[in-house]
Amino acid sequence: MNVKKSIESRRSIRQYQDKQVPDDLVNEVINAARLAPSGNNAQPSRYFVVKDAKTKKKLQNNNIIRDKWAYDAPVIIVCCADPKSYTKFVEEWDDPNEIRAIRDLAIASSYMVLQATELGLGTCYCGWLKKDKIKKILDIPPHFIVPYVITLGYPAETPKPRPRKGIEEILL
Ligand SMILES: Cc1cc2nc3c(=O)[nH]c(=O)nc-3n(C[C@H](O)[C@H](O)[C@H](O)COP(=O)(O)O)c2cc1C
Repeated sequence: MNVKKSIESRRSIRQYQDKQVPDDLVNEVINAARLAPSGNNAQPSRYFVVKDAKTKKKLQNNNIIRDKWAYDAPVIIVCCADPKSYTKFVEEWDDPNEIRAIRDLAIASSYMVLQATELGLGTCYCGWLKKDKIKKILDIPPHFIVPYVITLGYPAETPKPRPRKGIEEILL
């Protein structure tokens, strides 16, 4: 599969097979994110990989993710941005560190979901989550930003492409 095919075939997957994802594939997905670019090469993205049933249950019991199907995914990748990775701030040219960190995380996450697609794995971003509570439960530093988690596993559905705006609608 090439990048174009991966971009075209990726879908948000909300049903997963009851099959574990081998660690080397999870690592490959995280590695794709690691290789993504970031401003100043600051690399502010961090990942908490939830695979064990006990931690998943803890998230579920605390109603952390709005969508209940997410707990059935074999892997939940908690995507974090550390604004403190940015030290320099150039007035007039830079966005606040929080924005820069989230921006870089979003870029890295794209690499991640496309790599997963190439490996035959499904993903879905879940932005509806209790962001402060998840940090407490997983002992993630309080200043980290957790905009979403990404579920990962072997798909048990093959959704059709969801609608997109036409090129003429997005060109200014
Ligand atoms: C940042 C972000 C947050 C999202 N949050 C959720 C979510 O909480 N629950 C959900 O079911 N889908 C969520 N989605 C998936 C979108 O609904 C989905 O990407 C969109 O409908 C297009 O469908 P596709 O990904 O299959 O192309 C999210 C997507 C992104 C990029």
